[in-house]
Amino acid sequence: MARKDLIVGNWKMNATHLEAIQMVQKLSYRLETDDFERVEVAVCPPFTALRSVQTVIETDHLPIRLGAQDVHWQESGAYTGAVSPGMLRSLGVRFVIVGHSERRAMFGDDDAAVARKTVAVLDAGMIPIVAVGESLEQREAGTTEEIITGQLTAALRGIAPERVATLVVAYEPIWAIGTGRTADPDIAGQATAQLRAALSATSGNEVAAAVRILYGGSVNPGNIAAFMAKRDIDGALVGGASLDPDQFAAIVRYWV
Ligand code: 13P
Repeated sequence: MARKDLIVGNWKMNATHLEAIQMVQKLSYRLETDDFERVEVAVCPPFTALRSVQTVIETDHLPIRLGAQDVHWQESGAYTGAVSPGMLRSLGVRFVIVGHSERRAMFGDDDAAVARKTVAVLDAGMIPIVAVGESLEQREAGTTEEIITGQLTAALRGIAPERVATLVVAYEPIWAIGTGRTADPDIAGQATAQLRAALSATSGNEVAAAVRILYGGSVNPGNIAAFMAKRDIDGALVGGASLDPDQFAAIVRYWV
């Protein structure tokens, strides 16, 4: 099965709901419907902007997918401050990032939490984007493969292969996030190949061939082509550059 490339903007904790409306409108002005034929495009605004962005997407019939940056694994209950998979699903959310390194580092999301979230997102009929990545110390210690494949297999433990085939993996080396210091495309190519090999080992070759693997970390219009040239990279998870509709549209236009 051919993998359709995917480009995802992770807005992180940026944009009020009003700013978010402007951002998605500006993005749509800069892209033509044909631009979406070869690439699927998604934006992940903060929770507070999901409803507004959904309304713009639906009203203007935009081919842009809606994503969320995180989720809780429980469907409802006494979890103050948390947002459930069903709540996201009812807003038309298609993708949910789980295990972003900022969540792992700042909000205590460990492998067990990431695994629960991954299952919960699948159960709710959405697509998890499982984020993995090593720190600079881990890379320098030569443990990158062990760390990233360990994070991935922990997140997917117990999930049936046919469900694994539907999800998305994002390789985001922590040292390349928000630093302007991109991973060398060869390094990103090697890490994504290791992740696909790990998927083959746990879920079989056919499943591994179906999973889309994204690269994330200081992606911009100038470097997207070098990453996309790698066999196992099927798109990008973009932070900073996704906040600027001109930049994000220029990245999407790589596919046009
Ligand atoms: P930057 O593109 O700002 O480096 O962020 C990457 C990222 O963390 C996307 O999830």
